[in-house]
Amino acid sequence: MTSKSQSSSRKQNEIIQISAKKVQAPPVVIASKSSPVIGALSQTQIAAGVFAACAIGITAKKAMQKKVKKIVIAGAPASGKGKQCELIVKKFGITHISAGDLLRAAVAQGTEDGLRAKEFMDRGDLVPDEVVVNMVKSRLNEPDCANGWLLDGYPRSASQAEALSSYGIEPDLFLLLDVPDEELLERVVGRRLDPVTGQIYHLKFFPPPDDAVAKRLTQRSDDTEEKAANRLKVHHANVNAVTSKYKVIMKTIDGNRQKTTVFKEIEGLIKSM
Ligand code: AP5
Repeated sequence: MTSKSQSSSRKQNEIIQISAKKVQAPPVVIASKSSPVIGALSQTQIAAGVFAACAIGITAKKAMQKKVKKIVIAGAPASGKGKQCELIVKKFGITHISAGDLLRAAVAQGTEDGLRAKEFMDRGDLVPDEVVVNMVKSRLNEPDCANGWLLDGYPRSASQAEALSSYGIEPDLFLLLDVPDEELLERVVGRRLDPVTGQIYHLKFFPPPDDAVAKRLTQRSDDTEEKAANRLKVHHANVNAVTSKYKVIMKTIDGNRQKTTVFKEIEGLIKSM
């Protein structure tokens, strides 16, 4: 519970206690069909009881509404979206949806959408909306998203943001990871994936623990310097159109710090939602 909601429920509890103490009014007798006399309570006690029940109901409803966290995380290629999502999921248990992972899964399965997406991904261009928009929308409609979601790498263009709104899907928090371009290129070319554990390493910043792991690491086909440069160009060409839509809920995070330091700031923002 946030400090804001804690202080409001403390206030409600104080009002309830004050109301309950005012028991000077004469007792009234409550009767029902099955039990002619079930007790004697003052009018103030009854009023305090009703008030307390309402207050508890409102507090419980608010608490339930607070639990649903709808978050978008954005940033240039290799800005650390994937890493931060991993930490957010671990801490808050929200469903993580990565547009890039959905597309890579479709490519791996050889679906029609996957085959279409592959040529764009191989160049580092945005996959056309007719492929990606429905893919993300369908995923968001799955039952595990009912209690909140963390959308990674979507929307990436004005049209994708509009599509999301047109389905009535609105995030409450938009996190933008900010990292200088020079740093991003170094992160991209050094990134490696462990196909066995799914762990993402970096040859310099987060090397594999031993030779056995190092030998089985793979590199994403779009993690070359040339493709990363195009991905970065595409990001810069589109990012302002997306951020201008989410200005009110946007928090820009300096992503050029230790992963744990970046996460501390994100954690604070999510806790205060
Ligand atoms: P996608 O898979 O989303 O790739 P991306 O946006 O380019 O982002 P990355 O996955 O490369 O990086 P990341 O920010 O997750 O960084 P990570 O945590 O891994 O998209 C791929 C392609 O799919 C796109 O090019 C496009 O074709 C298509 N696509 C996707 N979404 C689309 C959409 N909405 N519309 C159309 N097409 C779409 O970290 C990177 C490396 O840096 C790692 O090695 C990590 O260990 C290291 N690192 C992370 N944080 C730090 C830190 N704080 N300090 C030092 N190193 C760090």
